[in-house]
Amino acid sequence: MNILIADDDPATLKRLASRLSAWGHTVHQAADGNTAWEIIGGTPVDMVISDWMLPGMDGLELCRRIRERHESGYVYLIRISRQHSKADIVRGLASGVDDYITKPIDVDTLHARVEIGARIVNLQRTLNRKIEIITANHIQTIHMFSRMMDVVDDELGGHCRRTADLAVKLAGLHPGVGDAETPVIETAARLHDIGMVGIPKSILNKRRTEIVENERQLYQSHAAMGARIIGEIAIMKPAALLVRMHHEQYNGKGFPDGLAGDEIPVGAQLISAASIYDNMIHKGKIALDRIPERLQRIRGYQLSPQVAALLMEINVAQQHDLARKMADELELDDLTAGMVIAANVRMKTGAFVMAADTELDDYGIDKLKHFKTIGAISNKVLIRKSTVRR
Ligand SMILES: [Fe+2]
Repeated sequence: MNILIADDDPATLKRLASRLSAWGHTVHQAADGNTAWEIIGGTPVDMVISDWMLPGMDGLELCRRIRERHESGYVYLIRISRQHSKADIVRGLASGVDDYITKPIDVDTLHARVEIGARIVNLQRTLNRKIEIITANHIQTIHMFSRMMDVVDDELGGHCRRTADLAVKLAGLHPGVGDAETPVIETAARLHDIGMVGIPKSILNKRRTEIVENERQLYQSHAAMGARIIGEIAIMKPAALLVRMHHEQYNGKGFPDGLAGDEIPVGAQLISAASIYDNMIHKGKIALDRIPERLQRIRGYQLSPQVAALLMEINVAQQHDLARKMADELELDDLTAGMVIAANVRMKTGAFVMAADTELDDYGIDKLKHFKTIGAISNKVLIRKSTVRR
């Protein structure tokens, strides 16, 4: 095991280090709390044996910081106590310490207590390995369901995959989504339409106006059906809840429960938004630059204004990426009359300067240079590739 000893008494440090090394452990030493914390930050440490009265950061603060760290495995803490008072020992144990030894240190007692710590650290490692295996199995199960949708209907499978990717992006932008929620949102989005598997294509391909009542009910049942299917697995229940709600609408006119506004969990709102956006592009074949007006129409109705704004942000970035593919970025001094602007030119404040598709003439080029001179725009604009003569 990697053991860190923190004590300001050089004789204690030397004695403990020599014993622990003899018992086969790798030993690190610190004479003060700050050095101990630096070592923990840069080296894998399984156990800390620390005096409570350390110069700089004291033992209590060191213990608190170690317990707040979540990125590494469990660190077993043994406190070296100078006092024998019951209250003092209880206070130390309550603050997160696993065990204590008292000075003067008895070597046999130390050996026994380090062995106890080693057993717990090893149990923790075994547990972590098993959690890794269970997590991997969980992810494989989700992918198995996802592949099953591909086999049944590759359009449906593709829609679910793209919806999951977009929902994860939206989750990254939404201030109300924590790191722990994103995997649940991703799982639910990947499987959000799994309940569609049993619905005949002949119904799914109909226009909304052609669907009769019992077909509409069958179609709408896919949200609750999907939730029932994946909710069979206990750890998938949080994702199942989002699947059930992926057709709820901000205005309360969705299904199956007619929830409105904040009654709809953020995760379900993001999956709904991602699914709608994907359908606009892949089913509706709507061009990227026409999507903002469509989003405007459903903002405050199907989607909350906040979630619609996030989709708008993603749409602007996608439009920009597309424009980059179709355009060359040129410096203002290289512009010539006849070139066509590929994307709207805006000031750093966002104010509009020149529209996409404008064919440049000498006046237009001078206008851009003027805005550059006053520091309002950068020195580069996107020009449609087909109008750039090399
Ligand atoms: Fe759906």
